[in-house]
Order: sequence, then structure tokens, then C-alpha cells
Amino acid sequence: MIPSKKQLLFLLLLISLFSIYNFTIYTSKTDYGTIHLSKKAIQGENIWLKNNCNSCHQLYGLGGYLGPDLTNVYSNKNKNEYYLKAMLNSGVKSMPKFKFNNTEKEALIQFLKEVDQTGYYPNTKTEIKPNGWVSIKYKNENHDK
Ligand code: HEC
Repeated sequence: MIPSKKQLLFLLLLISLFSIYNFTIYTSKTDYGTIHLSKKAIQGENIWLKNNCNSCHQLYGLGGYLGPDLTNVYSNKNKNEYYLKAMLNSGVKSMPKFKFNNTEKEALIQFLKEVDQTGYYPNTKTEIKPNGWVSIKYKNENHDK
């Protein structure tokens, strides 16, 4: 079947709309600022990676499941920096005893602190709006998306 002029025009219209749609999606800027870790936190992240903490712990639910999720451990009201240091000093149950020096422990805690500032996990601080969008409460800002 040879398409009629009308059909070809319609097809052309669809292709144009699709292109405009894609252009808009891929060139629109999001309002999410990039998260920059401090130098100390990056040192902590490297220690985290080198010692494979993620094999037992999760950040934002991703990781191994032998130990607890550590996304918000820093701001947990029942725990504090001394508690975190104690955990790193002695290890408990299946948490191994690492032989970190003070600088390394502080870097790890700084890393956990800055991870904590990025958000909540699990994020229950959400609100479903009548227009169908979900408003998510972040630690430092409130994005209406
Ligand atoms: C072999 C598994 C394993 C590895 C590897 C591991 N942990 Fe753990 N960790 C655990 C377990 C299990 C617990 C829970 C102990 C308990 O309270 O009974 C824990 C607890 C913790 C806690 C306290 C969490 C809380 O909510 O009380 C912190 C902080 C922590 N780990 C940090 C780390 C860091 C940092 C690393 C990497 C340097 C690490 N862990 C590596 C298994 C592990």
C-alpha cells in the first residue's frame, strides 16, 4: 500500500512532536544540585570502599544485608559519634574488628555524616498531592516534583 499524502504528513507530524519531546526532556535542567563530599568525607568513602563495608551494610537500601542500613545512622537520636567510633573500634557480632587509626575513623564518620545529610532512607516523608505528583522531603530542601 502506498501511503497517501495525508498519512505521510501525519507521520511527519508525529516524528516532529517526538523530536521536540525528546529535545525538551534531554535539555531541560533539573533543580537537583550536585552533592559534593568534603575532602575528609571522600577519604572516608575510600576507606568504606577499600574495606568493603558495603558487603554487609547498605546505603539507600543498596548493599549487603548482614548489617543494618547506614544511610541515617549518623542522625539517629539513640546513637552519636562516640557510638559510631566504638563500633569501628571493637566490632560486634559479625561486624569485624577493623584496626583503623583515629584519622581513618573520623574520615569514615564524616562520610556517614555527609551521606546522612543527603536524604532519608527509607523515605517516608512524602506527600501525595491531589495533582498526582509526590512531594518528597529531603534533608536540606523540599523539592516539589
Ligand atoms: C562482615 C560484615 C560487616 C562488615 C564488612 C562491616 N560491618 Fe558494620 N556491622 C555489621 C553488623 C552485623 C552490625 C550490627 C551489629 C549489631 O548491632 O549487632 C554492624 C554495625 C555497624 C554499625 C552500627 C550500626 C547501628 O545502627 O548500630 C556501624 C556504624 C558500622 N557497622 C559501620 C561499618 C563500617 C564503616 C564498615 C566498613 C569499614 C563496616 N561496618 C563493615 C557487619 C559488618
